[in-house]
Amino acid sequence: MDHLRGKKILIAITGGIAAYKIPELIRLFVKSGCEVRAAVTENACKFIQPLTLETLTGHPVLRNEFTLIKESQIPHIEATAWCDILIVAPATGNILGKAASGIADDLVSTLIMATSQKPILFAPAMNSRMYLNPIVKRNIAVLKETGHFFIGPEEGEMACGEEGLGRLVLLTCIVEKVKDIFTEKDLHNNTILISAGPTQEPIDPVRYITNRSSGKMGYAIAKAAKRRGGRVILISGPTRLSIPKEGITLIRVKTALEMEREIYEHYPYSDIVIMAAAVADYRTNRPFPHKLKKSDRVFQLELVRNPDILKSLGGKKETQILVGFAAETENFEKNALQKIKDKNLDLIVVNNVNLPDAGFEVDTNRIMLIDRFGKIRRFPLQSKEDAADAILDKIIKLKKKIRPENHNEKNKRT
Ligand code: C5P
Repeated sequence: MDHLRGKKILIAITGGIAAYKIPELIRLFVKSGCEVRAAVTENACKFIQPLTLETLTGHPVLRNEFTLIKESQIPHIEATAWCDILIVAPATGNILGKAASGIADDLVSTLIMATSQKPILFAPAMNSRMYLNPIVKRNIAVLKETGHFFIGPEEGEMACGEEGLGRLVLLTCIVEKVKDIFTEKDLHNNTILISAGPTQEPIDPVRYITNRSSGKMGYAIAKAAKRRGGRVILISGPTRLSIPKEGITLIRVKTALEMEREIYEHYPYSDIVIMAAAVADYRTNRPFPHKLKKSDRVFQLELVRNPDILKSLGGKKETQILVGFAAETENFEKNALQKIKDKNLDLIVVNNVNLPDAGFEVDTNRIMLIDRFGKIRRFPLQSKEDAADAILDKIIKLKKKIRPENHNEKNKRT
């Protein structure tokens, strides 16, 4: 699912130092397949050159509400009729005040007023003492109540050298938020429990057994489920990945036994459970309490089986939709169908870990979905983000089929 492809984005830049970051934001949107146009306040032009924006967007920059675009086209009317969303980034305290009070005395404030039927996203950035001013807070509250969207600011070092709350959020978070705004909330009122990443089974205080899972697929599913309105609980083995806090409960674990405990805790009230973690099948019976010294003798390590978490979830299944992963190197379909039966699954996601562009560590995947009715669908190479949406699309379809009462009941409550 391409959430951004073909979307028309109007970015209004106001006069804060963070304006220098916006050309990069424009590049991110263009790379995602959007058409972008930029508008600036007079003060924004002190921080960035309109020529940069024109080059990146391929459109003239809107600078003045009284300069006609073509013959009789009035810029704020034409541009707001054209766009699918207006993003104000960075949004200064000044523009928030104008927007909250209904003032339209320059191009950007007029664009905001003229965008009454489309989403507006504000990304505030200012010194923290300005941001924490009760008047700014009140203006933001008014704009939120009116139905406008906000992202950030975040805590950190600001341009003036001070630390505090007021930095423009990461540009990728702005892109993610826009995707959020455009996504249908078809997982609203569902709790989705997802496991991701490898587990680490200690040998001694400094060594452990693990595998090559990066966690990318599970994290991509967590983000997509959150974007689609789900309440997400992500139980993650050790990874280097980060995830937005808003809407996702992240629980970090190390070992399979810790993962099992957390999953059992949240399983009873989950609607959808996706085991994307590469749980280690074996652990040492008892890790050595001290660092092992090397010797020239052969060293034998005794390993015992870890519990098969997915299998025991299958045994306890009530109304949950249960999804497993299978990293296979051969006999994909036969092995997967057997696993569905053995573990009482509703769906299995198979990836061929022999291929260099699928499975562990990489950002792409080539998946095959097999449901419990034996229906198979193969997908071409795609980003893990798109694969996540394909998996969730299938889960929603399956849920409607397997538990129509449950599905309708949930929707009634929304
Ligand atoms: O049987 P196999 O290990 O191939 O099954 C993989 C699936 O089982 C994955 O969904 C994985 O998260 C889950 N699993 C588990 N507990 C284990 C091993 C794997 O839940 N000990």
